[in-house]
Parts: sequence; C-alpha cells; structure tokens
Amino acid sequence: MKNKHLISITDFSKEEYLKILDAAEDFEKQPVQNIATGKIVATLFFEPSTRTRLSFESAANRMGAKVIGFSDASSSSTAKGESLSDTIKTVCCYADLIVMRHPLEGSARWASEVASVPVINAGDGANQHPTQCLLDLYSIRKTQKTLDSLNIALVGDLKYGRTVHSLVEAMCNFNTTFHLISPESLKLPSSVKMHIKESGLKYHQYTEIQEAIDKVDVLYMTRVQRERFLDIQDYEKVKNAYILEQSTLKNSKSNLKILHPLPRVNEIHTNIDDTQQAYYFQQAQNGVYVRQALIASILGLK
Ligand code: CP
Repeated sequence: MKNKHLISITDFSKEEYLKILDAAEDFEKQPVQNIATGKIVATLFFEPSTRTRLSFESAANRMGAKVIGFSDASSSSTAKGESLSDTIKTVCCYADLIVMRHPLEGSARWASEVASVPVINAGDGANQHPTQCLLDLYSIRKTQKTLDSLNIALVGDLKYGRTVHSLVEAMCNFNTTFHLISPESLKLPSSVKMHIKESGLKYHQYTEIQEAIDKVDVLYMTRVQRERFLDIQDYEKVKNAYILEQSTLKNSKSNLKILHPLPRVNEIHTNIDDTQQAYYFQQAQNGVYVRQALIASILGLK
C-alpha cells in the first residue's frame, strides 16, 4: 500500500483492509510508536470536522510526524480564488501525505490526479468516506469477533450518507445481509444497491427500525444531513424520521452493537449512551488506531 492514494474504499482489496485492521490492533496495544519522525502530514479540511481531522492529527502526533494544514478553507488562499489543483500542487511541496475533506463529490479523486504525494480522502461530499469505513470495519470486527455473514442495519440518511456508501461497498466482501432503513426520499442510491446485487448478496428495505431490529447484529445509525439538502423544507420533513430510544431495542439480539459515525443530532437518545449496546464513542476512538495504521502503511513505515 506504500504511496497508494485512498479515495474510494474500493481502491483497496479485502486483503488490504484486513492488513490495515491487523496493524490497527497493534497500534491499539501500543499507541505511541515514533516511526514517522521527520514526516509531515497535511490535513486540508474544506468542510467542518471534529473526529476525522483530530483523529488523523492525533494519529500522526502519536507516531512522531508533524502536522500542517487548515480546518477552514476561508483561512486558505481558496478564499482568494485559488483552484483546488494549485492548492494541492503547492501543499505537495510541503508534506509527505495529504488528508483532504472537501464538499464536492469527486474532488479527492481530482486532487490525487494532480498530487505528487499520496492523498487520503477524508470525505468528498455525499460520495465516499473510506477511512471512516476502515474504522467501522475495525469496530464491527472487534465487537462481533468476525466480519463474515453478519446482518447489518443502516438507518437514516442512506442517500447522502457517504459513510454508508463506503461501508456497504466494503461489507460486500464479507457475505453481509443488508437491512436498509430510511424514509422514501433518503433511500440508498441505485448505484450502491447495484454493488450489493453484483456481489450476489441480499438487501431488504424498510421505513421503521422495529421491522428489522430482531434480525441484526449491527445497528448503524446516521444523521440526516441538513447541509446536503437543496430545499430546507425537504430536510424539515425527514429530520426527525428516526430517534432511537431504549424501547426500540426491546427485541434486539444479545450481541447487538449500535454504531454511528457521529456527529449525532437527535437520532440516538442520550439515555442509550450508557447501555451495553452503545459503541459509538469507542468507535470514534478506534479511528485513531486505524488512521495510525493507514498513515504507516501509505508512508511505507510498517
Ligand atoms: N465521522 C466523521 O466524519 O465525523 P467528523 O465530521 O466530525 O469528522
């Protein structure tokens, strides 16, 4: 994986995912490893982030790398009209690796085509979020002791949810049965459903969590993303579509874990946070180990 870009989760093979997850287990046991001293990681965030940016920066710091970048495009020369291409070519003069989040779908692929250093996509619009996917795989494997033959429910904004798109594509390698729970207007795009069909796997579509709760090993909740709607009235109609309460979990399997890429708005009641099913904050913590493994792998340090 040395010098490879990671733009879409399908850029990596199943074997490559598993190598990253195994390396992440080592970082979880020993998070501080000074193997990246002298390396510089650039984090270019043209869109807001808490977890992705800070966990990448934490990962780089724990390995002895230095971090440069910006968390707000308005503080970069983008605000003066600089093109993405010129920004990327310039940052390549200063860093060994670029981690980029951008609101435009396809922007990360474009950046990788002009970059002379590896580019990691930290989210491009509603398209893909491959590093979230890797930490989701890590969290699923850690809690279920396997990635194979699981029943996974994906709930909420399946249309614009880039983490969902990446996770579905990755889990197609593991004989997953998908339970897709969304309002009619936020169904999983046909292109992603096609991926499931082409893998010879099954999906079921519902509008209520209760219809699937007794069947699933993982309940992957997502936020309805206000920022992706062109018409705010369309957002208002679906913003409260799912609010997970303890009562919703009544018929769940004993091994059920609730994941969420976060941030949460109101789709999981806070009184779920202390239940044994809640795993979303540990999931966010796993992001550091997985991103350490990814940086080490792409920079050829492990
Ligand atoms: N999961 C995720 O991408 O969170 P942030 O938007 O806070 O980075």
